[in-house]
Amino acid sequence: MTSPRRATAQAHPNIALIKYWGNRDDYWRLPANDSLSFNLAGLWTRTTVVFDPAAEADRLILHGQEVRGSALQRVQRVLDAVRARAGLAWRAQVTSENNFPMAAGIASSASAFAALAVAAAAAAGLALDEAGLSRLARLGSGSAARSVPGGYVVWRAGAHDADSFAYTFLPAAHWALADCIAVVSTQAKAVGSTHGHALAHTSPLQAARVADTPRRLALAQDALLRRDFEQLAWVVELDTHLMHAVMQTSQPPLLYWQAASLTVMHAVRAWRAQGRAVAYTLDAGPNVHVLCPEDEAQAVARDLAALPGVREVRIATVGGPARRLD
Ligand code: DP6
Repeated sequence: MTSPRRATAQAHPNIALIKYWGNRDDYWRLPANDSLSFNLAGLWTRTTVVFDPAAEADRLILHGQEVRGSALQRVQRVLDAVRARAGLAWRAQVTSENNFPMAAGIASSASAFAALAVAAAAAAGLALDEAGLSRLARLGSGSAARSVPGGYVVWRAGAHDADSFAYTFLPAAHWALADCIAVVSTQAKAVGSTHGHALAHTSPLQAARVADTPRRLALAQDALLRRDFEQLAWVVELDTHLMHAVMQTSQPPLLYWQAASLTVMHAVRAWRAQGRAVAYTLDAGPNVHVLCPEDEAQAVARDLAALPGVREVRIATVGGPARRLD
């Protein structure tokens, strides 16, 4: 009797400075455009994968609760890819937990599928390099491709499964930035990212957003390289507004902002006009990610927490790669 094979991995979510929105291929999760992010240290998903010769079906246990349906199917997409490569038929038990609220604009799917890819590959005895793990994570969630490498990360859209993966553009130590996440809601969003990506092409603005992405990516990379916060703030806010303009003009339209989101956005603009290094970005949810230099994060978080509608502020610094824990 062969014994079960097990591995545990941890990954951070990431915040995109240049956003991924819309796929050229939904099945392979090949994105419409390149994107850029940094990993969020302090927030994590930890996942254990056990391939078990005695198991009859794949099981997913999230925070102690068994989950079925589309979440399990997405996990199985990654498990199936690992099994095919490893020549393994065994079913798996996947146990996972996050230390932050799920489905509320903090991308839990990114850390979840990055941790799953690393744990599943290790449990199956597959020796994949970072690009291979990033491609594997991408099958579960696009942004998860960016949570595999550490630091400041670029995901080149590519044209095929083989060339669509993320890599470290600059190490975390290059620039000590922080993300102060102003949580205005912890409710699950009405329309998830996967459905939203599929609607992107229905907006007349998506083609213009995608066509302009190389320019914004170059400006953001240049701002990071030169540690130019003013330029970074400008391009990050432009990029988030372009993505939300696409969301808001899709058919059906997606309006992720809440009143409190706008309160935070206006406050950040006012603070920047007073000379403070702060900039905001929002994912597919109402929470506002406020970027600032790490040594100003405590003060920024305190001021954010005092705004009406802000329930909690989480501070994350620039994080490292997904990694095995055992
Ligand atoms: C708005 O990676 O969550 O956060 O591939 O369907 O899982 P799926 O989508 P997901 O999309 C992320 C969209 C975003 C922007 C970004 O992180 O680039």
